[in-house]
Amino acid sequence: MNVLWIYAHPDPASLNGALRDEGVTTLRDLGHDVRESDLYAMRWNPIVDEIATVPEDVRIEHEKLGWADTVVVQFPLWWADTPAILKGWFDRVFVQGYGYDYRDETGHTLRYGNGVLAGKRAMVIVTAGAHEDSLGPRGAHGSLDDLLFNVQHATLFYTGMTVLPPLKVTGTNRMTPEKFDCVAERLRKRLHSLETTDPLPYRTQDGGDYDRRLVLLPEVAPGQTGYAVHLTA
Ligand SMILES: Cc1cc2nc3c(=O)[nH]c(=O)nc-3n(C[C@H](O)[C@H](O)[C@H](O)COP(=O)(O)O)c2cc1C
Repeated sequence: MNVLWIYAHPDPASLNGALRDEGVTTLRDLGHDVRESDLYAMRWNPIVDEIATVPEDVRIEHEKLGWADTVVVQFPLWWADTPAILKGWFDRVFVQGYGYDYRDETGHTLRYGNGVLAGKRAMVIVTAGAHEDSLGPRGAHGSLDDLLFNVQHATLFYTGMTVLPPLKVTGTNRMTPEKFDCVAERLRKRLHSLETTDPLPYRTQDGGDYDRRLVLLPEVAPGQTGYAVHLTA
């Protein structure tokens, strides 16, 4: 497999840095080819300052994405979201006609399960200081699954990728060597099964669940609302 590892952390000596090293080594040991977009090391410009043209740094990211079968997106949760540099990678790389407004020959817009990145798998790796329960369905910080909806559904799935369940590393404020070993083992397991893991069962745009305005049909999950309603199970 060709794996593109997108990594958004400023410090290579951090927990995230250690997990990235472990992950890339694991994939290479398994015989996969790995390329990286280490956004801080690349001094990635996150600011959209020109809309009409595709600058060279964005073109290079398009080439890497075209090469990849699988995309890993790794980041620490910062203020309940991705670090700004990663948001700015999506803002600048997923441009009109590529990430959005991508149409077939009839002019139909392809998105949510189809698009320029269709056929590729994506997996998020997120670390968070807060403990698991406080990022759960009744946690004060909000459900981590809900917080990831933007990157997983509205961005990765929107552009056509199949999204695997995320690797969630919570409670990083109290990391111990033993806990790190467990996390590294969970990471290795996920990478070993990257090609066979069932994706999140998001409803596709053209699968018959939505009307033309992209609203769920009344008979689909009647009475239910919220992010989870866009999953079939
Ligand atoms: C700017 C900033 C914002 C943060 N916001 C959150 C947050 O919203 N929720 C949370 O659980 N942890 C938050 N944290 C904690 C980080 O998620 C945690 O330190 C990180 O996942 C640990 O990995 P690292 O050692 O590789 O940085 C924040 C940390 C920073 C620096």
